Amino acid sequence: MTAINRRRALSGTAAIAVGVPVLAACSDDSAASDAAGSETSEPSPEPTSDGTETQSGGGEALASAADVPVGGCLVVAGAKVVVTQPTEGDFKAFSAVCTHQGCLVETSSDGEIPCPCHASRFSLEDGSPTSGPATAALAAVEITVDGDSILRA
Ligand code: FES
Repeated sequence: MTAINRRRALSGTAAIAVGVPVLAACSDDSAASDAAGSETSEPSPEPTSDGTETQSGGGEALASAADVPVGGCLVVAGAKVVVTQPTEGDFKAFSAVCTHQGCLVETSSDGEIPCPCHASRFSLEDGSPTSGPATAALAAVEITVDGDSILRA
């Protein structure tokens, strides 16, 4: 009787001892696979959104050349791009997100790219700050000009 009770007790203990780690392992595995799944799926939206931009951006129309003032700039708010025309027929484009605190810069014809939030100004030629508080240049955006259309490259 004592031996049987001991066996039952041991097998019961063994079952509990085995059962606990198995449950823990299962929850660890599922958590790990969930985390791995999240990590795997997280980068997917980024390339997808980049891919979307690339698909529509491989020739995405930003503006009509006629709408960009010579010696000025045109903000394409939806694309967060500012297209400049420092001299007639010479077009450049930059991120329209101010490097100071992230406001969108403004359309202008006064020879620079102005930010309405804290009065930073940027060069039409290279997006560099000409007056602060911004200290970093607007990021360049590659464009192509096809007739009267300015397209994201
Ligand atoms: Fe442009 Fe501050 S956000 S100057």
